[in-house]
Amino acid sequence: MAILEARALNKIYSVDHQKIIVLNDISLSVEPGEFLVVTGSSGSGKTTLLTLLSGLDKPTSGRVFIDQQDITGASEDDLAPLRNRMIGFVFQAFHLIPSMSALENIMFPAELQGLGDAEAKARQLLERVGLSGRADNLPSRLSGGEKQRVSLCRAMINDPKLIFADEPTGNLDSRNGRIVFSQLVEMKNEHGATLIVVTHNAEIASAADRVLVLKDGRLVP
Ligand SMILES: Nc1ncnc2c1ncn2[C@@H]1O[C@H](COP(=O)(O)OP(=O)(O)OP(=O)(O)O)[C@@H](O)[C@H]1O
Ligand SMILES: [Mg+2]
Repeated sequence: MAILEARALNKIYSVDHQKIIVLNDISLSVEPGEFLVVTGSSGSGKTTLLTLLSGLDKPTSGRVFIDQQDITGASEDDLAPLRNRMIGFVFQAFHLIPSMSALENIMFPAELQGLGDAEAKARQLLERVGLSGRADNLPSRLSGGEKQRVSLCRAMINDPKLIFADEPTGNLDSRNGRIVFSQLVEMKNEHGATLIVVTHNAEIASAADRVLVLKDGRLVP
């Protein structure tokens, strides 16, 4: 049974009375534990697709199912806890909260979830990625690679079934990119999670179970 399913997704924006079709009839199904890469040129709709699949935004038409549950009609009040519990997100630009330390950033989704051992778990994750010594640093006092490893820990703290990563190594040099990517895959495998990564990186794509290519908002057959 699919952990994630999209049926006939369309996303249309209206700009200056013109309709822009950003995603055009996207259907896909992802099995539990799968590692899927989404690739395609700039503007082809990759980020838009991730935001729809993860429930961060709604399609103009079509449906998204997470773990058999139709999230398309769900209100933000219902979706936010589901996302927090089920989904981990890693962004190209890290999206860490600037006023919180590395440790606090990682703990935050667990605290929203009411997890009792948030701090212990966050410290364990920091140790896993070799950043125990940086727990109290604000994001402004971390390197790009360190920030991305912190955001990886934040994405993992609630043991998500689904991990989405939008160009997670795009802002990193190749060495740091490799470190972040190998830790991402390691954590995915450890938790038996499903991983969906947007990337231009051929090395990452070659490690995937399946590669989807978007072109002008359509999946290339
Ligand atoms: N809010 C919006 N209003 C209008 N058009 C939008 C909006 N968001 C995205 N678009 C358009 O949708 C298209 C796809 O954008 P998207 O960010 O999904 O592309 P992408 O494949 O992630 O590109 P990149 O590789 O550069 O990150 C682009 O042409 C973009 O201009
Ligand atoms: Mg993008």
